[in-house]
Amino acid sequence: MRIGFWGSGNMARVLGGAWSVAGHQITFGSRDAEKSRSVAEEIGFSAIGGTNDAVAETCEVIVSTIRAVPSSFITSTSALAGKVIIDLNNRDLPRDYKPEEFLHSLAGATQKDVPSARIVKALNNQAMEVFNCDAAALREAGVQAFIAGDDNEAKQTVIELLNDIGLKPVDFGPLSNAWLLELQADILRTYMFATGNSLVTPGFIEAPRAEPRFGERRKGTY
Ligand SMILES: NC(=O)c1ccc[n+]([C@@H]2O[C@H](COP(=O)([O-])OP(=O)(O)OC[C@H]3O[C@@H](n4cnc5c(N)ncnc54)[C@H](OP(=O)(O)O)[C@@H]3O)[C@@H](O)[C@H]2O)c1
Repeated sequence: MRIGFWGSGNMARVLGGAWSVAGHQITFGSRDAEKSRSVAEEIGFSAIGGTNDAVAETCEVIVSTIRAVPSSFITSTSALAGKVIIDLNNRDLPRDYKPEEFLHSLAGATQKDVPSARIVKALNNQAMEVFNCDAAALREAGVQAFIAGDDNEAKQTVIELLNDIGLKPVDFGPLSNAWLLELQADILRTYMFATGNSLVTPGFIEAPRAEPRFGERRKGTY
């Protein structure tokens, strides 16, 4: 699959590398095409670099690593109709954080900016260091990736791409739930800032199924 990145920073580099290993064709985009070409060279395989506009025009799946809506950094959004856009952005985490101010999502803003594209929130809860592991190691560890989006076919595409790099997708429902995944990133980053550990990821590790030992669940609160 032809996967492009808006921005050629840290997440673009590690994910571009991971999907290159899985056999995908990667295009890095940047405000400075020289920079994206040099990132492509660093990654190798058949990765190429260019402008963010070129990514919009030529790639089937686009990963936005820019904390801003597409119309603010590409010349036209008309090439994006029907395309799958993975939004992995998290807001800046201020020290005087007030969660009630953040009940909207960056992914929702992108969907509003480009209504004809299919936005999927994903990969915002894996720090870049997680991708130091190869797909086999992530699979073995059972590392999960929560996603949210409104288009089932787009979500299926993203699920397959996550599988390719060793992550186990967990569907969190519609894009209106993306704010929860962004909030989750605030929790993980707060933990990371406090401990220096960037390898913790959100995960529902399931207990084995067993017959009730003390009766079934009865009416009550959750
Ligand atoms: N790093 C992590 O571990 C991690 C994990 C999960 C999610 N995230 C989220 O992923 C996003 C990217 O993180 P990152 O670590 O990859 O950051 P980064 O290394 O700073 O890369 C972001 C890229 O965005 C581009 N950019 C920045 N401001 C821009 C603007 N005003 N207009 C156009 N392009 C602009 C720059 O690309 P060019 O200079 O090439 O134009 C920059 O390299 C953030 O929202 C972050 O919260 C990060």
